Amino acid sequence: MNDRPIHGLARNTPGYGDPEFAAYLRRTFYKSMGYSQAMLDKPVIGIVDTGSAFNNCHRTAPELVEATKRGVLGAGGLPMPFPTISLCEPSLFPTSMHYRNLAALDTEAMLAAQPMDAAVMISGCDKTVPAQLMGAASSDVPSVLVVTGPMLATPYQGERLAACTDCRRYWAAYRAGKVTGERIAEIEGRLASTAGTCGVMGTASTMACIAETLGFMPPGHGSIPAVHADRLRAAEMAGEIAMGFVTNPIRPSQLITEHSVENALRVLLALGGSTNALIHLTAIAGRRGIKIDLRRVNELSDTTPVLVDLKPTGDGYMEDFHAAGAMPALLWELRDLLHPDCIDVTGRSLGERLAEPAFVDRRYIRARAEPVSPVGGIVALFGSLAPRGAIIKRSAATPALFETEARCLVFDGPADLADRIDDPALDVTETDILVLKNAGPLTPAGMPEAGYLPIPTKLGRAGVKDMVRISDCRMSGTAFGTIVLHVTPEAAAGGPLGLAESGDRIRVSVRDRTLDLLVPEAELERRRAGWRPPATPVRGWDRLLHDQVLQADEGCDLRVLRAEGP
Ligand code: FES
Repeated sequence: MNDRPIHGLARNTPGYGDPEFAAYLRRTFYKSMGYSQAMLDKPVIGIVDTGSAFNNCHRTAPELVEATKRGVLGAGGLPMPFPTISLCEPSLFPTSMHYRNLAALDTEAMLAAQPMDAAVMISGCDKTVPAQLMGAASSDVPSVLVVTGPMLATPYQGERLAACTDCRRYWAAYRAGKVTGERIAEIEGRLASTAGTCGVMGTASTMACIAETLGFMPPGHGSIPAVHADRLRAAEMAGEIAMGFVTNPIRPSQLITEHSVENALRVLLALGGSTNALIHLTAIAGRRGIKIDLRRVNELSDTTPVLVDLKPTGDGYMEDFHAAGAMPALLWELRDLLHPDCIDVTGRSLGERLAEPAFVDRRYIRARAEPVSPVGGIVALFGSLAPRGAIIKRSAATPALFETEARCLVFDGPADLADRIDDPALDVTETDILVLKNAGPLTPAGMPEAGYLPIPTKLGRAGVKDMVRISDCRMSGTAFGTIVLHVTPEAAAGGPLGLAESGDRIRVSVRDRTLDLLVPEAELERRRAGWRPPATPVRGWDRLLHDQVLQADEGCDLRVLRAEGP
């Protein structure tokens, strides 16, 4: 009995005070599942299965699990799929973000507690990828990531449609009276017509590209469409790679480094990627004690062009990006800006992977000399309204609004916004700034993707397409507009945003990277004296989150889960 291998099921036996008995008992119960002793002696690869009837983006999880198992079995291991929390954007109240850290904690605990030599993690929808990377980073179990992959765009009456930039475009047109109720109902069945994650450079696609940049999957695997046979081959390969970790482990702590995080920031900027990804990457890096400084993000943004021409910044869809050369082509374009020493799950360094130029289709991945934009997609703003920063996705904004000083119209929270935004008597003009407060990570609203405040109907019907909008919440990676997000500290944490009132003047300067509330300090002091924090949730996850959640500049992780330093 003592010569049994110490890998696989011999790991992590329960603390009965008698390890031999604990191992014996475990074998007994595993044999109840019909395994032979020969199978139970093999290395074990855990497969994190986030398939769920509530998660359309993970519809293909069962076949990806099967393909991964094939890869593990072919390499001589025992595949062990297990469930963790699955989060789908449209399925969760108040938001999927409210549960990202719970999913990360679940993933971390199950990776660390169960007997496995390595893991393959299957995810895709917005919050699932960061949750798994955060869990892997903290457990430090050697792990490969398989994303479900993006959906295909649907040809429709001379154009193509895919969730969810087109969802927002058509909904805005419907609100403005330019699309009928009949047509919007018909389009509802055309916006997401295959399996997979949103088909544009939204949060899911951005996070898949970031995961690939951090090295959690082989080159080119992040963007394979969900329905392509290569997607299944990628899962099979992930199983084989995880088996390689049994003798030659590559741990998340080797993948998530200062250099790889900076490479990932460059990629985020060059993609014109989702603003949410900045919060998620901050949280992932934070699990390894690596801090992301928003002022450094600004330096990187000023020296990183947007090269990818996909919606919501440009015109293409994820299938175009994949066919155009995908991440290998983008990394090749950026190669002189990247740290070449970073390795991926195959053990090769970025420098080795970039030894040869990759195929590229310039319609979707531009040359450095002909960028979509000469500077990066996201910049941070600082000032009296956001002492610890806020961000704006300038690549999806209206340049004419970059330098704005105007009076503001303040909504006290998402409910107030919903109640009043379409009131015909609303005192608002197209030159006003719309402000939403009390929607940050500390609030019961759960930091919703409500930063894309709708244009008031009466202005939308008059042809207004964009206004400056400011909030302490997030916006969908598929959204667009002159939208300032993640104002930190948030209103509910006592930030200056909580003191803003309708009629105040606010100045936004993308050029100067500033965001200021133009109210005298004496008046702010008077308002501060009357400010009260929102009620504390009584129990459960809501209470734990409220007591522990950090602000956007720290990734909105739980305080207790961040690492102190590398
Ligand atoms: Fe899942 Fe968009 S809803 S990726």
